[in-house]
Amino acid sequence: MSTPHNHASAGEIAEKILLPGDPMRAKYIADHFLENAVCYNQVRGMYGYTGSYNGKRVSVQGTGMGMPSMHIYAGELMEHYGVKKLIRVGTCGSLKEELKLKEIVIAMGSTTDSNMNCDRFGSISFAPIADFELLKDAYEEARKRNICATVSNIFTSDKFYDEKGAEKNRLLTSYGITAVDMETCELYTLAAKYGTQALTMLTVSDHLVTGEKCTAEERQTAFEDMIKIALEII
Ligand code: HPA
Repeated sequence: MSTPHNHASAGEIAEKILLPGDPMRAKYIADHFLENAVCYNQVRGMYGYTGSYNGKRVSVQGTGMGMPSMHIYAGELMEHYGVKKLIRVGTCGSLKEELKLKEIVIAMGSTTDSNMNCDRFGSISFAPIADFELLKDAYEEARKRNICATVSNIFTSDKFYDEKGAEKNRLLTSYGITAVDMETCELYTLAAKYGTQALTMLTVSDHLVTGEKCTAEERQTAFEDMIKIALEII
């Protein structure tokens, strides 16, 4: 029952899963937050682990960078492995002066320059959105911990290095978009297709207005707050 990208057998992956882009983060989460974590996948170094958090069976799987990579990993989790609740835990660039490094963004919806949904839907412009229950729970859990979380539409870009970036970012911020990642649009679209629950939580790792970047250490602390919220609510 394995796939070309995931060698887990049926039943080895939990119905609830955290999805970092970076597979080394998957290992870090398994090592530091899960009990009795077992590695079920190492194909292409895209690690996946299943363990437990406060008695809850949870998996964590790297998804790589960009929508096509998310398409493969999240699509297979939903289609072949019966995964029902997925929380992407990643990083983003801030597009808004007030949204500072290390803060958390919860993506209510995703706008994109990718062609993937044009190919799927033709002239219909599909609106990829978060699962409401996960969104509400994540926001409330952040508030409870006195952590500032921005809930907004985000931009899922096909390019990390974009010649037209500055122009696009100005337009998008004028329409209320606060941050940029490269995967959420596909995660939310697949969740709609398979009737699963998905949410993206992001920490700001770089600031596209001020040019600031997190140090490796700063990335780590901000990331840990977000992981705790995600594991509590999933
Ligand atoms: N662009 C796209 N994705 C990102 C960025 C960025 O600046 N930072 C973290 N993920």
